[in-house]
Amino acid sequence: MIVLGFESSCDETGVALVCAKRGVLAHALHSQVAMHAEYGGVVPELASRDHVRHVIPLTRQVLKDAQLTLEDVDALAYTAGPGLAGALLVGAGAAQSIAWSLGKPAFAIHHLEGHLLSPRLADPKPEFPFVALLVSGGHTQLMQVRHVGDYTLLGETLDDAAGEAFDKTAKLLGLGYPGGPALSRLAEEGDPRAFDLPRPLIHRPDLDFSFSGLKTAVLQRTKTLGGLDQMTHQQRADLAAATQMAIVDVLVSKATAAMRQVKSPRLVVAGGVGANALLRKRLYAQAEKFGFEVYFPPLDLCTDNGAMIAYAAAERLNAGLLDPKGQSDIFEVRARWPLDQLSHQSTP
Ligand code: KG4
Ligand code: ZN
Repeated sequence: MIVLGFESSCDETGVALVCAKRGVLAHALHSQVAMHAEYGGVVPELASRDHVRHVIPLTRQVLKDAQLTLEDVDALAYTAGPGLAGALLVGAGAAQSIAWSLGKPAFAIHHLEGHLLSPRLADPKPEFPFVALLVSGGHTQLMQVRHVGDYTLLGETLDDAAGEAFDKTAKLLGLGYPGGPALSRLAEEGDPRAFDLPRPLIHRPDLDFSFSGLKTAVLQRTKTLGGLDQMTHQQRADLAAATQMAIVDVLVSKATAAMRQVKSPRLVVAGGVGANALLRKRLYAQAEKFGFEVYFPPLDLCTDNGAMIAYAAAERLNAGLLDPKGQSDIFEVRARWPLDQLSHQSTP
């Protein structure tokens, strides 16, 4: 079973060919980061137009890389939400039109389910059940995963997502967009103990997060130091290191609490922030200390990509949660779509 998957929910156009048995056959990505950088964030209308420009060339590229033709594809899959509606429609439109032309099925996939299952593309592959820490630019959630399609929300952010906290504080420190990778690079030169930043909700027994207070605290520290212009490179690096440490402390503490609460044998980390080296190191240490296993997606599949979408469709088909004949001729996308409300038939 070969699935051609499309991801276009935000600022990456991702197309991939995934084989249910052999894993990723080819995946290609076009990042819009440079285009949005001058605006300091994603401009939805520009994002949609750029997806239109790249979706077909990327499709040609993965077919060429895998030495396959469209005739070899058994099914198509696309991100149907959550995300930017106009951007989502590009992937949905591409997948549905190719599907119609070939007489093959096209499946609507939930973006976060793609992230959540993507660590299963790694070797070794985490078996079910597990607790997932989903940390992307738009979401921070702890999810109990019993099987494909069987998800219970354990806790989530009450305001900003972890990735958003990285992006917003990076902006305050004069770093580019997206802020996560830039902030963690600068943090390598800094001392995290140089500034004492809040760890919101860390001592609360529930599994919810809050990150919005952190950016206010970072803003106050920069003001106390006379603003960005007056700060030395070392002060900026120290503040970056302290910010990263505060975010990671909260994520590690809540993820460990979830593992103890659910008594799960394994933790799976997914989403863009899962690429963060400090988070990886600290969670490996917790896993050793508390006797659980921890899994991350392959580094190149942490952030948005088409492989996770194709793979989620393959997993759903394999679990009998999708009608192999496909879905209706009408397709819709959903800007908002809670993962734990995902029906067994993933029609949006
Ligand atoms: O999952 P993702 O690619 O997109 C969404 O679905 O949102 O996540 C993007 C987020 C951005 O906020 C980015 O700053 C963050 O992941 N990110 C990182 C790192 N790489 C990406 N955050 C911290 N450290 C990183 N190395
Ligand atoms: Zn994502």
